[in-house]
Amino acid sequence: MCDFGNIVDDTFDRQIYFPTMIFSVECANFEDLNAYLIPLIYSERDRDEAGIERSNYRALGGWHSHNSLHQDKAYAPLVDRIDQASRRISESLGYDDDYELQIGTMWSIINGPGSVNKAHIHPGSYWSGVYYVQTPKDSGDIEFIDPRTFHVMDEPRFQKGVQRCRENWTKVRFTPRTGAMLLFPSWLYHGVDPNLTSISGSDGERVIVSFNLVQKLKIG
Ligand SMILES: [Fe+2]
Repeated sequence: MCDFGNIVDDTFDRQIYFPTMIFSVECANFEDLNAYLIPLIYSERDRDEAGIERSNYRALGGWHSHNSLHQDKAYAPLVDRIDQASRRISESLGYDDDYELQIGTMWSIINGPGSVNKAHIHPGSYWSGVYYVQTPKDSGDIEFIDPRTFHVMDEPRFQKGVQRCRENWTKVRFTPRTGAMLLFPSWLYHGVDPNLTSISGSDGERVIVSFNLVQKLKIG
């Protein structure tokens, strides 16, 4: 029988297509920014105690503001930083210079002890993000979930005791860090764990500002 040989070792190649990108960035001087934002957000909650219900559970104490905080000029310092991060995404991905990512909606969430955010996506936008204003210890990690259900449903067996390479993860979690911003595809399912902090009072509340980005033609 003819010997057809083996595969050629140095031609074995792994390339990645259709990646899921999560960007992170830290804001300089975030302590001052957050000290400025906290009273703003709490005064908004005082004004609109009921808020609205989205991924939060009002019954568990999760508060969600209205979706147009970016139109309030008081939030301009944060909007400016989000715009800076948005420009970096457009540059990084080679988007058309005639267009820019703009905030379409922006809201705040305050999660007191026991509050969670159920897994959800953000329809109607390309990118979404979260900025962490106050993140007490154990106040809830954010978890992103691979949307390709086959991956979650039926996983191969992997080597025991060996960390899987990132390409094989089906979920990824981030412990929030005050002053950090995460930006992720709006179609990417995500949820937030319960706030299990042992800190009492408002210092134990997890406070974030979240936003959606849409691509619009630049004006002027
Ligand atoms: Fe979200």
